[in-house]
Amino acid sequence: MTAKISIIGAGMTGSTSAAWLAEREIADLVLVDVVEGMPQGKALDLLEAMPVLGKDVTLVGSNDYEATKGSDIVVITAGIPRKPGMSRDDLLTTNAEIVGKATRESLKYSPEAIFIVLTNPLDTMAYLTMKAGKLPPQRVVGQAGILDSARMRAFVALETGVSVENIHCYVMGGHGDEMVPLTRHSNIAGIPLDEYLSADKLAAIVERTRKGGGEIVSLLKTGSAYYAPAAAIAQMAEAILKDKHLIVPAAAYMQGEYGLKDIFFGAPVMLGRKGVERIVEYSLNAEEKAALERSAAAVKETVEALRKLISL
Ligand code: APR
Repeated sequence: MTAKISIIGAGMTGSTSAAWLAEREIADLVLVDVVEGMPQGKALDLLEAMPVLGKDVTLVGSNDYEATKGSDIVVITAGIPRKPGMSRDDLLTTNAEIVGKATRESLKYSPEAIFIVLTNPLDTMAYLTMKAGKLPPQRVVGQAGILDSARMRAFVALETGVSVENIHCYVMGGHGDEMVPLTRHSNIAGIPLDEYLSADKLAAIVERTRKGGGEIVSLLKTGSAYYAPAAAIAQMAEAILKDKHLIVPAAAYMQGEYGLKDIFFGAPVMLGRKGVERIVEYSLNAEEKAALERSAAAVKETVEALRKLISL
């Protein structure tokens, strides 16, 4: 394999990302974690699954960043996950320290890598990665929008009985309860969602999507979602390595798009070999714009809280 992806944080999302990525057979994989033996054990377990899957992927686990040398992509999932009753923002202090270090250490060995950030609070951790690494905005993208949109798609599929492949949903905004599911831009095989579903049913789906992460946290009790977030990571990494110019919802650095500046925010972005190639701008009505502004205000608040913790 010529491409290499390193995943910092070999916990639930990190190791599940490795599993989904290995199935795609697009890169050799390295798992790094602070816990001794754990990344080594998980990488070996996954390596031993490759003959069964018929995939020629090498997997290595390490407690040392040297193993990540020459990575094309670095995925940051290191941090603490949410517990019941915690918001994503409650994770800020602990995760800021972990993500800052993960970025700087990774860059020592992979100065050209593109960073996909998953650690929460997502938009703020992506911002921190860009600042801590002094990276051009194009090389940092946060995973959230694919997940939030996939949740909405899954709920629409459950409600309608239509294949998930026919269901296209787009969620914008910060990865928090103020996220903005765009019902007007979502459709089932080209039929607008609001024509297919009653207003009540659609409103219930929007609400469940917004609270989708919390629903899983309260069921799991000891951690947060990892299968769907990790599947999204795999899709993003593949789009980058294969230079697909794939448009997906993800968190990118705003430089005037949607009237926003100097925050990471969920929007449709085009992913290719250089990272974020473009931020796509939907035409939005007044109601949608107001919802985005509320979501942006929530993200800005967390970025301000981060600034109080560390100088950026
Ligand atoms: N360097 C490397 N790994 C670290 C560090 C560090 N400084 N600090 C913690 N870790 C590791 C932990 O040892 C753990 O294995 O990060 C891993 C996180 O894994 P989990 O606790 O299983 O959490 P996970 O569900 O994967 O979520 C991680 O992603 O979705 C977000 O909100 C979630 O912020 C959380 C992150």
